[in-house]
Amino acid sequence: MHLRIAVLPGDGIGPEVTRQAVAVLQTVSDICGHDFRFESYPIGGAAIERDGTPLPERTLSACLESDAVLLGAVGARKYDDCTGHIRPEAGLLKLRQALGGYANLRPIRAYEAIADCSPLREDVVRGANILIVRELLGGLYFAQPRAIENDGLSACNTMRYDVYEIERVAHIAFKEACRRRKHVTSVDKANVLETSQLWRRTVNELAKQYPDVELDHAYVDSFAMQLVTTPARYDVILTENLFGDILSDEAAVICGSLGMLASASIGGRVGLYEPVHGSAPGLAGRGTANPLGAIQSAAMLLQYSAGLWEEAEQIMESVQRTLARGLVTPDLAGRRERLPSGTDVVGKSVVETVTDLLQRQMAHHGL
Ligand code: NAD
Ligand code: IPM
Ligand code: MN
Repeated sequence: MHLRIAVLPGDGIGPEVTRQAVAVLQTVSDICGHDFRFESYPIGGAAIERDGTPLPERTLSACLESDAVLLGAVGARKYDDCTGHIRPEAGLLKLRQALGGYANLRPIRAYEAIADCSPLREDVVRGANILIVRELLGGLYFAQPRAIENDGLSACNTMRYDVYEIERVAHIAFKEACRRRKHVTSVDKANVLETSQLWRRTVNELAKQYPDVELDHAYVDSFAMQLVTTPARYDVILTENLFGDILSDEAAVICGSLGMLASASIGGRVGLYEPVHGSAPGLAGRGTANPLGAIQSAAMLLQYSAGLWEEAEQIMESVQRTLARGLVTPDLAGRRERLPSGTDVVGKSVVETVTDLLQRQMAHHGL
């Protein structure tokens, strides 16, 4: 399997966690006889420093020509008060739009080995295994008009959805549900917003094509509460862009750290894989950032851009074994006795474990 992977480390802890994810992919490539090629390009604040723009043309064209894009994180305090296009985040949004992935998959699991790391009670999180399917290219993030007006005294953004935007992301959610526990919860604000009324009507109509999948609806405000009181009740959660952004960070408390969450943006020309967390400027440069969100994003890359489900499964298994051995970064210190390790140590454990698992598997198949 030949794969050209564009690597965009970005800002803050982005480069630290991306390095570990690349090491894991390189290991899979070496052991399984694949040919993964990695090339790094600037994005975000790092790109503004070098090229004066958060998404340089050569970064964009390299991404469009690659088989998949692996991104760390963007964002730096220096640019926090900037508006317009010279912001790290503007580069990421432009990239998402250009790559075209409209469905952002964000899996959340309560791992048994770190159940004590959640601020929620262990009996509350036990068994939780959720997939948030976040619409990524519409709603308030992209619809026009948007502007700061009236000499800075007013501002507007537009919440807008067309039926086709809802249908295409809903199809992905239902298809994912078919491979899981066959349950979709669509989250909206249909008691107030017309966009949500359209969302609900469209999802109800489309659900008829998936008679085996159970569908229910929830209002986002009450759902935000239910997500952390009864997380094990949910399977696939389908929601619009901003709701999905907020709910996924909230869902991180179910597994214990935002640093654990991975994502895949699919449905477009090229798949984009990035951890859910940001550049965490306060953590950058300390060598203590959790690399497991980035590593699991790399596993999703193998699933969705290469169809290498078995290899991806072994990466996920290696992550679980690493956690079970108590090898965790300080964000997962938890209530049990654990001595926190650095980013490198956790990454190395995943590399060694996946090496072992893949070699055994190859031996088993007589390869
Ligand atoms: P953040 O996700 O960077 O950090 C929030 C909290 O989670 C912090 O306490 C941080 O220490 C912790 N955390 C995050 N990732 C971690 C990891 N891998 N290991 C251990 N702890 C981790 O969110 P923020 O502080 O709100 O934003 C910082 C910057 O990142 C902002 O500029 C924001 O716009 C940007 N951002 C970028 C992305 C992205 O590139 N996809 C996502 C979210 C935020
Ligand atoms: C995320 C981030 C981004 C978003 C920002 C950095 C543009 O918060 O991926 O969750 O809002 O989508
Ligand atoms: Mn976010």
